[in-house]
Amino acid sequence: MIIKRPTDIPSSEITPEAIYLRRRDFMRGSLAGIAAGLLPGSLMAEDSTAPAGQALTYSPVAADATDQGFDTREARTPYEHVTGYNNFYEFGMDKSDPAQYAGSLVTDPWSVEVSGEVEKPGAYALEDLLAKVQLEERIYRLRCVEAWSMVIPWVGFPLADLIRQLGPTSRARYVEFKTLYRPKQMRGQRSAFSTIDWPYVEGLRMDEAMHPLTLMATGLYGRSLPNQNGAPLRLVVPWKYGFKSIKSIVSIRFTEKQPQTTWAQIAPREYGFYANVNPQVDHPRWSQKTERRLPSTLFNPNRIDTQLFNGYGEQVAHLYQGMDLRKYY
Ligand code: MTE
Repeated sequence: MIIKRPTDIPSSEITPEAIYLRRRDFMRGSLAGIAAGLLPGSLMAEDSTAPAGQALTYSPVAADATDQGFDTREARTPYEHVTGYNNFYEFGMDKSDPAQYAGSLVTDPWSVEVSGEVEKPGAYALEDLLAKVQLEERIYRLRCVEAWSMVIPWVGFPLADLIRQLGPTSRARYVEFKTLYRPKQMRGQRSAFSTIDWPYVEGLRMDEAMHPLTLMATGLYGRSLPNQNGAPLRLVVPWKYGFKSIKSIVSIRFTEKQPQTTWAQIAPREYGFYANVNPQVDHPRWSQKTERRLPSTLFNPNRIDTQLFNGYGEQVAHLYQGMDLRKYY
């Protein structure tokens, strides 16, 4: 994976602290407004960082959510960073490319092809899938393999709720996901410099897919997903490196065999199928012991210790009991 170390970050990517603090105050105001359902239009119009997209109806994160890992209770990364600093190689390799170019992606109509070892295969219109699930809020850490992280308030539904409705057969041991392949609207897929064999593919073991923390997100900060964050439907697996959280999903396939996944195919020594966040297992080219929690600046890099399973060990460690995490990285 292409990585920029903190020292390589161009100054254009670093928000001066005063501006960031002003925006953070703005966001606090906005969130209080959203919570009360009273966001004044004038406030939104004044600042270009105001949340875009359609307001969603969802259950706010429950009071007992912390024990289950549904709410980190950490400061949320401001909206402008969540939606302005992205990895979505379909739109380019710079962190600002997705925000700049993903507007070209048409996300309505959208359908998802369900296939493989499943009782109800077929092409499902997104609205039909969403009609059968309840949206809820989850506040998760997102830790990228490149050693930066954020805290994001997602809106979505447990993947398990969808899987139960689709009825995998007893032979289904893995789930494979694919992103849309549409080079006309995704400039990265047209690029002659791309090393990715499109479409982007990811996968989970069935027990990982069924875990209550595994979310299919349709929104963030209370509104539908911006294109750069994987509209209209993406996976979020908070205890794994961010590259597992595949965006703009059009295919879900249930398989007997472990699927071949994009980064594991490009650089198998560097990116494994499991990709569980693990500070003890360094990437061959850099340490995974710490991470840069965004927003970070040259003067305040905001470097924090990385936690095993990204801090979700209590909820997920049992899935990997007896497995050598150095071998299955
Ligand atoms: N999904 C697709 N289709 N293409 C990508 O390039 N990048 C991954 C993941 N999902 C990626 C993707 C990586 S490396 C990360 S860290 C996260 O998306 C970033 O999600 P975010 O931009 O919403 O923070």
